[in-house]
Amino acid sequence: MTVKARIERIGEFVDQEVVLEGWLWNKRSSGKIAFLNFRDGSGFIQCVVVKQDVPEELFDLAKGLSQESSIRVTGIVRKEERSQIGYELTVTNIEVVSRTEDYPITPKEHGVDFLLDHRHLWIRSPRQRAILKIRAEVIKGMRAFFDENGFTQVDPPILTPSSAEGTTNMFETEYVNGENAYLSQSGQLYMEAAAMALGRVYSFGPTFRAEKSKTRKHMNEFWMIEPEMAYVEHKENLQIQEALVKYTIKHILDHCPTELKVLERDTAPLERVVAEKFPIITYAEAVKILQEKGHDFPYGEDFGAPHETELTNHFDLPVFVEKWPANIKAFYMQPDPENPDVILGADLLAPEGYGEIVGGSERIHDYELMKERFAQENFDDSYNWYLELRQYGSVPHSGFGIGLERTIAWICGIDHIRETIMIPRTLYRLYP
Ligand code: 4AD
Ligand code: MG
Repeated sequence: MTVKARIERIGEFVDQEVVLEGWLWNKRSSGKIAFLNFRDGSGFIQCVVVKQDVPEELFDLAKGLSQESSIRVTGIVRKEERSQIGYELTVTNIEVVSRTEDYPITPKEHGVDFLLDHRHLWIRSPRQRAILKIRAEVIKGMRAFFDENGFTQVDPPILTPSSAEGTTNMFETEYVNGENAYLSQSGQLYMEAAAMALGRVYSFGPTFRAEKSKTRKHMNEFWMIEPEMAYVEHKENLQIQEALVKYTIKHILDHCPTELKVLERDTAPLERVVAEKFPIITYAEAVKILQEKGHDFPYGEDFGAPHETELTNHFDLPVFVEKWPANIKAFYMQPDPENPDVILGADLLAPEGYGEIVGGSERIHDYELMKERFAQENFDDSYNWYLELRQYGSVPHSGFGIGLERTIAWICGIDHIRETIMIPRTLYRLYP
């Protein structure tokens, strides 16, 4: 009996007859030979049908197949140096599972709106498949880092009674008992509770922000990994972030060479990230650099995309910008004892123009100071539990959030984060 094989492990079947189950991606043919570019989800392989070696019906069938027809292809696996994967298939039989006519996404160029309207089909393309594959590996790599370093995964709630990152961008819904509920903007506040129970924890889940931003870096639904660590202070927080980013990039360089090739990603800048120490500058130093480069940028404002790009081009490596003015950052950030107007937190800016991928800080652990912040923020009872964390066994602790899609866009070297998730949720799009 012929064995079933998958393209990703085709090298185990050289000179054997196998059956591959998948779809026709595209095809070239002449009077004597047909080349089927076939995909099975695990990869792409060229299948060769030689007229003089097969029954006439089989050659005619192969020549007549249209793009995205689903087929089972039987053939002998051959080593082939010229192939990107190193193998091709000499076809002995084809079984048509279903025929496809007029597949909308042809090899010609399509506009991005057309592609996004057909996102459910677009993900079959080699580039999109490569990105989704890298996404899965980024998640695997990050989990491996945390699991190897003593972190426990904890899942905070998605439906919440209050805001974690400011009230201006919350998706609101009515809870079953009639109360207002909001989709989570960040699991952080709950992860702080988890850190006091388990020491080092991380969450990995969807995040919702109803912001009306139409940029290459914003989505309304994205995924965030949020570690939180008891007895870790600001400096060590940055060391852990740097180690995580290096580990993740190395994991992708090791596990996704084919996908990076499909994306034509220059890997030299990524190799630099693994090898070199990330610079750390203060917000005040960053402002100075911007002003020296001719930006009319006042101390005390948040960076826009051109400022982030300028800063990362200046260093050509991921750069930490630490000690931001307290009044433009979140209420929970620990003030710097040397200058309480700035906080012990940092953003990590990715190079090559990708900008902020991580936001993190040491958290206020002093009960009285947190009570003051609560008063300034006019918090209601729904935050009482968070204040109690400072009443019972409070310790210095820190954490951060790394945006999955922004990290993937950077690793893949692609223009827009909407391609880093299967079905993107952006300002004007809730379809498909
Ligand atoms: O900087 P942010 O808002 O930080 C927090 O939510 C903290 N509570 C995290 C923590 O300390 N536990 O978001 C963290 C990261 C950003 O650096 C960015 O990578 C990503 O989440 N992010 C977005 N990604 C895509 N679309 C958006 N609209 C995003 N907003 C933030
Ligand atoms: Mg941020």
